[in-house]
Amino acid sequence: MTPVARPVGTPAPSLGFPVVGMIGGGQLARMTQEAALALGVGLRVLAADPGESAARAGGDLRWGAHDDPQAVAAFARGCQVVTFDHEHVPGPILADLVGSGITVRPSPAALAHAQDKVHMRAAISATGVPCPEWAVVSSPEQVQAFAERAGWPVVLKVSRGGYDGRGVWVVEDPAEAATLLAGTALAQGVEWLAEQYVPFIRELAAQVARSPSGQVAVYPVVRTVQTDGICTEVVAPCPGLSDDHALAAQQVALRIAEALDVVGMLAVELFDTPDGVLVNELAMRPHNSGHWSVDGAVTSQFENHLRAVLDLPLGSPAARAEHVVMVNVLGGEHPDLYAAYRHVMARDPGLKVHMYGKDVRPGRKVGHVTVYGSDLDALLGRAHHAADYLMGVIDE
Ligand SMILES: Nc1ncnc2c1ncn2[C@@H]1O[C@H](COP(=O)(O)OP(=O)(O)OP(=O)(O)O)[C@@H](O)[C@H]1O
Ligand SMILES: [Mg+2]
Repeated sequence: MTPVARPVGTPAPSLGFPVVGMIGGGQLARMTQEAALALGVGLRVLAADPGESAARAGGDLRWGAHDDPQAVAAFARGCQVVTFDHEHVPGPILADLVGSGITVRPSPAALAHAQDKVHMRAAISATGVPCPEWAVVSSPEQVQAFAERAGWPVVLKVSRGGYDGRGVWVVEDPAEAATLLAGTALAQGVEWLAEQYVPFIRELAAQVARSPSGQVAVYPVVRTVQTDGICTEVVAPCPGLSDDHALAAQQVALRIAEALDVVGMLAVELFDTPDGVLVNELAMRPHNSGHWSVDGAVTSQFENHLRAVLDLPLGSPAARAEHVVMVNVLGGEHPDLYAAYRHVMARDPGLKVHMYGKDVRPGRKVGHVTVYGSDLDALLGRAHHAADYLMGVIDE
């Protein structure tokens, strides 16, 4: 077979330093590349399109689709370990990689829990970790039977392929459930997951990095805010969270990481309720709830993901300030981010601005801003002002 050509300008990996392959060219791969540069390890990215966030950052790029077995196999050759920017690589392709001797972290068996919400719910329930009541349903009658024990409203989710709230619906009554089920065609292998609607106090995320040797680094538990299903704000550590709930959230994340044998970063999204924390879902890669760690922690989630998949000693996950606030910048009505960018920099020299090199489309994650310090209200004000200005929501 012809070796895959090295694209012009691709740096040769440094002598003796490994190359990590990351499948997917989104902003997570782009930010992992910053961490790889600092560590001096190689990062090779499989991107589908030159316009993708990580592709625009250059470096060791290969072109191909994550669901093309040949492209993935050619990409993986020469990588010491293959990992992910997203969870959408089909299981059979991952199994082939492992079969051909490639090290894949997290393993396909672990990753399956982040790929399929029904699989995740079944595994988590089996470990005894608390989660909302749930059931697999396939008809309006089954939704109604579920609601008789869990109550209305019911949350209906597609088991695979959803993100940023796409694939999640809250239905108030049997008629709404029937309309949704009748009007939504599920792709092959996708099921309906019904969940109890949790009237949470707030949403949390607990992140851990775990290496193949079993070393773990546990990040402070953060508060996340989702608006229309999209993460918009993260505060680290979660303000006002009782020590009991913070510890419980961290223990849940550790228990899941061990039970599912996760390697790399694990993010556990949780609902905080008066009776304790409940697991919403899992991600086995760097996650939006950990972007604060780039500027706000001793070791970012991107660096610890690389360290973990390479089985290097992990870095400290400790926060560098009393409070760290991260606010996402979503695409707005006006596409000229650069003019706004100058303004927010001039207004607030302590603000850290991260842009993903993505074309602006309404609602799309195109960047984030981070601030840190000791006055939480002031930090929230600064971060939201900057994000709103960048999004074109305000003009002064
Ligand atoms: N059982 C529930 N009860 C109440 N709200 C819920 C429930 N499940 C989900 N939600 C709300 O919907 C949001 C999105 O749900 P979920 O995290 O399952 O979807 P997603 O699209 O896979 O998200 P992500 O972009 O994080 O992958 C949650 O963050 C939460 O705000
Ligand atoms: Mg989620």
